[in-house]
Amino acid sequence: MGMLINKFKIHNIEIEVVESKKAMGLRAAEMIAERMLAKNDIVLGLSTGSTPLPVYAALIAFYTKKMISFKDVKTFNLDEYYPIEPSNKQSYQYAMKRDLFSQIDIPPENIHFPDCLISDSPVKASRNYEHLIAKSGGIDLLLGGIGQNAHIGFNEPPAQSDSRTRLIELTEETRKINSRFFATIEEVPQYAITMGLGTILDSKEIILCASGTAKSETIYKALWEKPNPNVPATYLQNHQNCRFILERAAAGRILD
Ligand code: F6R
Repeated sequence: MGMLINKFKIHNIEIEVVESKKAMGLRAAEMIAERMLAKNDIVLGLSTGSTPLPVYAALIAFYTKKMISFKDVKTFNLDEYYPIEPSNKQSYQYAMKRDLFSQIDIPPENIHFPDCLISDSPVKASRNYEHLIAKSGGIDLLLGGIGQNAHIGFNEPPAQSDSRTRLIELTEETRKINSRFFATIEEVPQYAITMGLGTILDSKEIILCASGTAKSETIYKALWEKPNPNVPATYLQNHQNCRFILERAAAGRILD
């Protein structure tokens, strides 16, 4: 494949470096599509934010060309702000509908998010989410991004490797970074419900995508620091089936 620049392994993690965000999206989507063809009722863990957008664009293109179908696929998103109405344009549910779900054939009942209405108890919603994931047979393939502080989902540092779905307080840094999607930083919710690191690490396979120079140092630390709570992504080193697909700029520091 011409767009693949480099492929190597650090610890257990397969690293693929590609030349552009588009190539990153295509490569991750190809892998997801392959797994979907092997198991049509696959359970996917999905993330939001900027990173997975090229992956979703490529998956939509595969679907439009009738190469794949999401009819039997189940999805569990990693996180959602709390409290928030699903109809709120800043909610992750709204973003996923806009960027993926409205453009593919996934039945609405197969789509899952933590319950994040103000009337929902976050403790009950978190327990229920874990239960639903387990009842679906666990996550087969999780597509993750990474925060500049190495959070996965919204597991802000310090984060324990055995944490489960729960309510967390977002750090000022994350709220500042995410304020690009809001009119002002005050509008960025202070809380979110996120799958725990333990929940994420229970996935049978993990694909982590990263793009841009802002992630380069984070990726370096995630791969080269010993697993520790202050760099939550370091715990991915303990996973047996984890792959990083990196756009060239995000791999800058590890290629140095
Ligand atoms: C969102 C999520 C977060 C993001 C991370 C990177 O569902 O799980 O961990 O993946 O904050 O965000 P972007 O991709 O916007 O840089």
